[in-house]
Amino acid sequence: MRLSFVLSACATATVALSPLLIPAASELDAPEAVIANHSPHAPAHSSVHGAPAAQAIGLTEISKASQECIDCHRKESPGLYQQWGDSRHYRGNVGCYECHAADPDDPDALRHYDRWISIIVSPKDCARCHSREVEEFLGSHHSKGGRILGSLDNVLAEVVEGNNGLVTEGFPGGVSAAAVSGCWQCHGSEVKVLADGKLDPATWPNTGIGRINPDGSEGSCSACHSRHRFSAAQARHPDTCGKCHMGPDHPQKEIYEESKHGIAFFAGIDDMNLDANKWIVGEDYFVAPTCATCHMSATKDQPVTHDIGMRISWNNRPVVSVRPEDSDAKMNLPGKDVPWQTRRKSMKNVCLNCHNTQWVDNFYVQYDGLVDLYNEKYAKPGRALYELAKPLKNPVPFSNKVDFIWFELWHHEGRRARHAASMMGPDYTHWHGTYDLAKNFYTEYIPELNELVEANKHSDDAAKVEAAAALEAKIAEVLATDDHKWILGQMDPQEAARRAAAAKEFRSRYDK
Ligand code: HEC
Ligand code: HEC
Ligand code: HEC
Ligand code: HEC
Ligand code: HEC
Ligand code: HEC
Ligand code: HEC
Ligand code: HEC
Repeated sequence: MRLSFVLSACATATVALSPLLIPAASELDAPEAVIANHSPHAPAHSSVHGAPAAQAIGLTEISKASQECIDCHRKESPGLYQQWGDSRHYRGNVGCYECHAADPDDPDALRHYDRWISIIVSPKDCARCHSREVEEFLGSHHSKGGRILGSLDNVLAEVVEGNNGLVTEGFPGGVSAAAVSGCWQCHGSEVKVLADGKLDPATWPNTGIGRINPDGSEGSCSACHSRHRFSAAQARHPDTCGKCHMGPDHPQKEIYEESKHGIAFFAGIDDMNLDANKWIVGEDYFVAPTCATCHMSATKDQPVTHDIGMRISWNNRPVVSVRPEDSDAKMNLPGKDVPWQTRRKSMKNVCLNCHNTQWVDNFYVQYDGLVDLYNEKYAKPGRALYELAKPLKNPVPFSNKVDFIWFELWHHEGRRARHAASMMGPDYTHWHGTYDLAKNFYTEYIPELNELVEANKHSDDAAKVEAAAALEAKIAEVLATDDHKWILGQMDPQEAARRAAAAKEFRSRYDK
């Protein structure tokens, strides 16, 4: 059997062991008992040279409680048992009970044979041994991913796409199956505990990134570290992030795959050393950066961070890009005190292991240029037009064609263009990005707004007539700006002449 092999092979290789005995459930809350930890939010430039990947210290032997679980579960769930046997936890004698132990008065405590356990092992539980990772994670947007109820997207899942047809004990009035199997699987559900300690099926299984746990903590570590191997190697692989960071509104996975970085990764995966204990770019691997390399992993100057916002200088999710410290302040995250310039410096510190300063600085000029283009040419005027259209349309969200058109402009196409420029994906920047933006702005959005003007300018309602006039004037104003006047045939004559000459030259290559 594989596990017995692992057992004998690793008995001597076990990590530095603490001389401690096995904590009882109530003692598990005393973190000093089992941990030697990093200081919280280590300064960005403390040297991590040679530090092992994980610094938690294991137990000297498997606890009696865990041995009971193991003896039974190796028969009941052999696959699960093997996954654990293949993990660093196994090698550190961190058994089932060290993670699943519960106090009888925990909200999700379940009497299981002779012990109290909880099915969910929340970040709070992992924090007994990994407090630094948990603190960083809890300070990040990831841990807040479950707070989507008020969003426009959520109206889609619960109302427009879905209904209240999924009835469970926890949702006697029903809940939308589209939200349960869609949004919540990425963002996280609010897990509901039923009377018998079981978990409501609408909310579990779930490993969404911002899952709201019965103990009140937010997030799920198994979003990236699948149980029961809990491997760093898996989390370093781009596919891990790709479960969520993909699709029409944030295709980071697809962008990465088309980028030179993704190409180099897949071509050189055998040299990526993903399994290494310490994983410092330039020391332990050099072939390509993965998502983790740029957003989380260590360089020779900075430690690993579980706050994925610490190296990004724009938040490109809203209609108009904002600085990350501003969005962090609104959610009262610790990042509110970390200005975008500091974060950008930390990201550059990653790049500079493989590139030089000019390459990296110039890249940021290109990226900022694209963000600026989107914001100024499409987002700001588009948003102003949408505001003016509001009095003319049905107030129910997504009951008008123009609602969908505008939503896709900023939420899909506008994000795609910016995300792709930030991660070197030219096809997504252009054909899935600025091309779609322009096409839909001119041939869908403006015509639909014009229809609203036409439908209302002769209305009996004076307010509508006035609103239609205001919208009509704004459309004319937007189209007359330097960014858009080409469509009125009003391009600057010098530029028009230059373009005509270039076009003639190009055609001559193909025309007989
Ligand atoms: C009782 C202490 C303890 C608890 C609780 C615990 N761990 Fe660990 N963890 C350890 C030890 C010990 C190691 C191994 C350290 C080493 O190899 O240097 C480790 C290693 C890890 C690693 C690194 C694996 C690798 O491939 O390098 C990850 C990831 C991890 N734990 C995640 C978690 C998560 C997620 C939880 C909660 C679901 C958790 N741990 C709960 C003690 C614990
Ligand atoms: C005597 C056998 C036995 C022992 C001892 C045992 N388990 Fe179980 N456990 C089971 C069986 C059987 C199931 C149910 C499997 C199923 O429903 O498919 C289960 C289910 C579970 C579940 C999932 C519960 C759910 O409803 O989703 C967890 C978590 C769990 N066990 C953890 C533990 C831990 C931790 C220990 C040790 C403290 C332990 N078990 C001890 C047999 C055992
Ligand atoms: C490092 C912590 C850790 C250890 C050690 C651990 N588990 Fe788990 N276990 C988890 C996490 C995390 C989940 C997923 C639930 C969640 O996302 O919170 C889980 C889920 C489960 C489930 C229910 C999920 C399913 O797929 O059906 C069972 C059963 C279970 N564990 C049993 C065990 C047994 C048996 C052992 C020992 C062989 C064990 N666990 C060791 C953290 C741990
Ligand atoms: C495939 C996984 C996935 C699904 C399904 C999904 N999302 Fe998201 N969502 C994400 C990711 C990843 C981001 C962050 C994207 C980024 O940073 O570029 C995000 C961002 C968001 C944001 C912006 C959050 C902020 O604070 O900036 C909201 C709101 C949102 N999603 C709501 C929803 C709703 C509601 C649904 C269902 C209708 C849904 N999402 C479906 C993965 C998903
Ligand atoms: C967004 C994905 C993601 C989530 C969510 C995540 N991790 Fe990690 N984790 C990683 C990556 C990537 C690494 C490897 C970093 C490296 O060494 O390159 C890692 C490494 C670790 C390590 C090894 C030590 C270290 O810092 O390198 C531990 C321990 C760990 N994670 C614990 C946790 C715990 C506990 C949680 C839940 C609070 C968690 N992780 C959530 C991606 C994640
Ligand atoms: C289970 C789904 C899921 C996985 C897996 C996941 N993410 Fe995310 N990520 C999200 C969601 C949802 C958000 C948006 C959260 C919000 O703002 O509400 C997000 C946001 C982000 C952000 C923006 C943070 C900020 O401060 O604005 C970055 C960067 C990011 N993720 C990187 C990663 C990386 C790198 C990985 C893999 C190592 C990863 N994510 C894995 C769901 C996920
Ligand atoms: C070569 C380094 C690099 C790699 C590899 C990389 N990224 Fe990024 N990522 C960046 C940069 C640079 C930005 C823009 C940072 C800024 O705004 O200053 C960014 C931005 C992001 C954002 C923020 C989007 C928003 O809403 O504003 C997310 C999410 C993200 N990356 C996820 C990923 C995922 C997932 C992968 C892998 C599939 C990945 N990244 C691979 C460098 C990288
Ligand atoms: C682990 C090494 C590594 C890291 C770290 C890294 N890159 Fe690269 N990068 C490469 C390789 C390899 C190529 C392909 C070079 C070539 O085309 O000859 C590349 C290519 C590029 C390109 C050219 C894309 C193209 O299509 O020609 C840009 C721009 C770039 N990197 C920017 C960055 C930025 C910005 C960062 C940090 C956010 C970064 N890189 C981090 C290795 C890395």
